[in-house]
Parts: sequence; structure tokens; C-alpha cells
Amino acid sequence: MSQTRTRATFPPPVMEARRWLEGVDFTQDRPLINVSQAAPVDPPPLALRQAMAEFAVSEDSAHLYGPVLGNPELRAELAQQIGTHYGADLSQVQVAITSGCNQAFAATISAVTDEGDEVILPTPWYFNHKMWLDMAGVRSIALQTGDDLLPDPEAARALITDKTRAIALVTPNNPGGVEYPAELVRAFYDLAQEAGIRLLVDETYRDFDSRSGPPHDLFQQPGWDETLVHLYSFSKSYRLTGHRVGAIATSPNLLAEIEKFLDTVAICPGQMGQFAALWGMQNLSQWVAGERDEILDRRAAIQDMLPDLAEKGWKLLGLGAYFAYFEHPFDLPSDELAKRMVAETGILLLPGTMFMPQDDPAGKRQVRIAFANLDRKGLRQLFDRLTDATF
Ligand SMILES: Cc1ncc(COP(=O)(O)O)c(C=O)c1O
Repeated sequence: MSQTRTRATFPPPVMEARRWLEGVDFTQDRPLINVSQAAPVDPPPLALRQAMAEFAVSEDSAHLYGPVLGNPELRAELAQQIGTHYGADLSQVQVAITSGCNQAFAATISAVTDEGDEVILPTPWYFNHKMWLDMAGVRSIALQTGDDLLPDPEAARALITDKTRAIALVTPNNPGGVEYPAELVRAFYDLAQEAGIRLLVDETYRDFDSRSGPPHDLFQQPGWDETLVHLYSFSKSYRLTGHRVGAIATSPNLLAEIEKFLDTVAICPGQMGQFAALWGMQNLSQWVAGERDEILDRRAAIQDMLPDLAEKGWKLLGLGAYFAYFEHPFDLPSDELAKRMVAETGILLLPGTMFMPQDDPAGKRQVRIAFANLDRKGLRQLFDRLTDATF
């Protein structure tokens, strides 16, 4: 088989990690603790499922193609809610609905880059961003972060060339968990604007941010939509992972380019998912607030349990959204460690090597724990196992 851009990128990491489970037996007194994937394991609340069932039965439009950029009511509601969240005014023509946030990223990159162009990604990066850039023929330019996992705008400035088309940030961050301070996000916006490139900000975990008030002021900047491309997902906030609904907020001109990609790849976002997203936004704000409280409580539990683990040499680099990102204390590369941990500790986590360029040694020392599905009791078990682990 000849080399292609798709062959050149790596296999889906979560699927690869799942294969490590094959042939390993887990006992009743030590079941598998799976902290590999950042996705809710429970279905949406019953009221939402019932509303979806009713929609499926009574509305013919539930089963038909709709507008490429999404249904107008959903675009309008999201524009209004983004406006409320960020203290800004948005119009529905600045918002499009996609089949998930990964597709939102892919569509945006396809619209703003050409073969051989460059996009700057802070490391550790979200692996699907790197994979899509590889498959799109775009070079990912790694922007290393330090122990605080925060990217430095001046270091980014030094990486900008005449091929750079965008900088892509994720805040709250996957895999690092860190919430980027508003001033930092603003500094990246100013840099992107000055350089005439786009700033993509993936805010999939926006609804689990521990801060109150707008997490940044980019939507308040005049002409924000010429620089900012905000990406959002309904997957986590409303437990709709299987329905594939995400969104993009940016300029109508860029959305017209993005529409070409969306039309060709999926024609329109699924109707059930769009209905569920709209119903969720209109009826579930209290429920989402409760989910956030629960995640923040789990995060606080991790903070409480840290000292024992720290004593064993584990170092917490970032904590937030669905993630705790650690430097491990063992004299083993993280990819080997992660595989061995399955059988030897009953834990499935992802190694830092999955979030880094291969030649960056930091990845070998780091691991990501997606903690969102573990309650306090589950977290205690996880931490006990990690504290006892020796390699
Ligand atoms: C940063 C980030 N972006 C996008 C996605 C994918 O979201 P969606 O399910 O909406 O495609 C995820 C899911 O893990 C994510 O962590």
C-alpha cells in the first residue's frame, strides 16, 4: 500500500487503549477502573429521552435532511446562550451546528488551510486535532508548555511563519485539565489578530469550568468573528455523545466556506441530536449546573486525596474539566507503563505519549486520568491503587 496522509497518522488512541484490555481478567474484588475516555457513561436524563422519543414519533422532520449549517431555532438559541455566557451579542448567522465538535474542528481547518500550511498546537495536544491536521496535509507546530501546562503567547509568536494559518487552543484543556486564564486567551487572540491568522478555541468543557462569569472576553471584542473560531460540543454537557452535535461560532463569511465541507461530508447534522440540544438548552440549565457541581466535587476529592500520591512521587500538573494530568514516578516510558497498569493495577489510563510529538520526552513521563465517571468512592479506589503501584 502506498503512503498516504491518513496512513501517516496514528490509530485512534481510545480504541488502541481498549485493545490492551483483551485477554486480561478482572476479578470482582478488583474490577477494571477505566479512566481512559472522557465521555459520560450514562444516558441523558429521562425527560430529555422522552422528549426525543416524542419528537421521533410525531415530527416528520426528525427523519429528514435539514439546512447544512443547522436548524435556525437551534442556531438562534445557541447564539443567545453564548451571548449570555460570555457577556456579548451574537447573531444566529455567526453560529453553525455540526455533527460533533471534532467535525467542527475538521471543517474549520479545511476552510482555513491549504496543503503544507501550519497550525500551532500547544502540547500536550488533543490527539484528534493532531490527527486531522495530519490527514489534511497541514503541519502541526508543537508549542511546548511548562509544568503549569499553560502555553506562552511569546513562544507562539516565535513559531509563526508565512505558512501559519491558525493557533488552536483547548480550554478547559484536554488532556491537561487546566483552565486558561482570561488574560492568556486574550493575549493569544491579540497575537492571532496581529498576525492575520485565526484563533480556534475548543471549549468542549466550558460548562465544567470552575470559574464563574465569562471565562474570557473574546466575544466582547469588536469584529471578534474575523479572528476567533469558537468550537463547542453538546456531547458532555447534555450526555449526547452518541447523537453527534457540536457547534462553531465565527464570521458568516467563514461559515460559508465551512458549509462546503459540512455539505459534502454529512449534508446536515442529525435531526434527533439537534432537537435534543435545543430541548436541553431550553429545559436543562439547572440539571447541567448540577452536573457541573458534581464534577467540581470530584475534582475537589482528587485535591484532598493528592498528598498520599504525591508522597509516592506522583506530580499533579493539571486538574480540571474531566481530567487530572500527572507526571508519574516510575522509570518506565508512559506507553509501556499504561499497558502494564491494566494487568498489574486494574487501571486503564492514557499515556502522555498519545498527546505529544514522539520526540518530546515529556510525554513519556506523563499520564492522563479522565476522572469524570468516578464518584468519591471510585476515586478513593483509584487513588489507593495508584498509591500502592510499583513498577
Ligand atoms: C477537546 C475536545 N474537543 C472535541 C471533542 C469531541 O467532541 P464531540 O463529541 O462533540 O465530537 C472532545 C471529546 O473528547 C474533546 O475532548
